Amino acid sequence: MNKVSPSTTDPCAEVEIDYLELDKIIEQEFDNDKENLIMILQAIQKRYNHLPQPTLKYLSEKINVPYSQIYGVGTFYATFSLEPKGRNIISICLGTACHVRGGERVRERIEDNLNLDGKHTTDDMRFTLEGVRCIGCCSLGPVLKVNEDIHGRIGADKVEEILENYE
Ligand code: FES
Repeated sequence: MNKVSPSTTDPCAEVEIDYLELDKIIEQEFDNDKENLIMILQAIQKRYNHLPQPTLKYLSEKINVPYSQIYGVGTFYATFSLEPKGRNIISICLGTACHVRGGERVRERIEDNLNLDGKHTTDDMRFTLEGVRCIGCCSLGPVLKVNEDIHGRIGADKVEEILENYE
């Protein structure tokens, strides 16, 4: 079994991993139990805003589940992300009702405003932009969700004003 130092840096994501804290999640909160795999991954994702690869390798050793299986779960569910995400998640609805009311123009304005240039996450990790199919409030289209806040009936001209509220 590979020894992992108590605190190292994930070379891909440049995220500092606190292995003592990780032990607390895996051992104390979830009893080192492989049956709790999804909940452990949720806790790691909540802590790091994504699933850093070293945490998955460490988890694999701790609960004795093959890394490939843990990786498979981490990539199967849309709720998990192996890529670092920004502090604020913007979900722009690209469903039909929002599309016909100008959702695409709103998306373009967000990309321009944040200088995304084909990326999903800003360089300063302030925002991640995701396209979603339907947020479930079609009558308010076009709809934009930032974290848990729903912004409905927005025009492209409102984008800057909305995003200013999120650090
Ligand atoms: S299509 Fe946008 S909320 Fe339903």
